[in-house]
Amino acid sequence: MSLIIRKAEISDAEGIAAVAASLQIGDERPPLAGQTGFLLWAQSPTTYGTRLACTKHFVVAEAGSRIVGFLMAYSLEELTEISRSMSYEDQVLKNFGERYSNSTIYPDQIGVLPSHKRQGIGGMMDDKLQELAPNVGCATVIGHAPIRNNASIGYFTSRGYGFAQELQQDDWTLGLYERNVILRHSMR
Ligand SMILES: CC(C)(COP(=O)(O)OP(=O)(O)OC[C@H]1O[C@@H](n2cnc3c(N)ncnc32)[C@H](O)[C@@H]1OP(=O)(O)O)[C@@H](O)C(=O)NCCC(=O)NCCS
Repeated sequence: MSLIIRKAEISDAEGIAAVAASLQIGDERPPLAGQTGFLLWAQSPTTYGTRLACTKHFVVAEAGSRIVGFLMAYSLEELTEISRSMSYEDQVLKNFGERYSNSTIYPDQIGVLPSHKRQGIGGMMDDKLQELAPNVGCATVIGHAPIRNNASIGYFTSRGYGFAQELQQDDWTLGLYERNVILRHSMR
């Protein structure tokens, strides 16, 4: 089946939410979820629609007429604009604002349907993101504890990201990973 990797449109919100729902772990937090990857904060179609309207850096993978993967990213500038509806990411936003230049891209969520994983779709979505924002640095956070998201760590490190430091967000320890970023302190 033909696969299309393209910029997301508002009409994709339902399909994106369905992919995200298939990857969400609940409160039971199965430890093995780290091997396959997981999302902590899958959102509703309405929320994905709101984010879509605010960013130029949202990519989807479409097979037939079905959304099979998404990469929701925003520049720090765009993130600041939508931060009012993102209360769960306060600590991340604060840290990013202090650490990075405004152009830095924040890949907030990536997901590929379980049936379509390990076929290069995540990699192709990252290629598209880099095409939309050539030579722009990126930073993201990945669950380290209580569950280490080894699938996500494997994916992002395979795409050239390196571990920088750990952050605390509620009861989660998150790893901060960066690629080609410009740090604010080096701009002074
Ligand atoms: C992380 C995720 C998006 C990767 O998508 P994908 O389409 O399967 O990734 P790709 O096929 O492009 O894989 C690229 C590379 O990433 C690494 N990788 C992918 N899945 C991995 C896994 N489960 N364990 C370790 N490394 C992995 C590998 O190096 C892989 O290259 P290879 O297949 O040649 O070995 C997918 O596993 C997923 O949706 N996970 C659930 C959601 C999630 O964890 N999101 C991240 C938190 S926001």
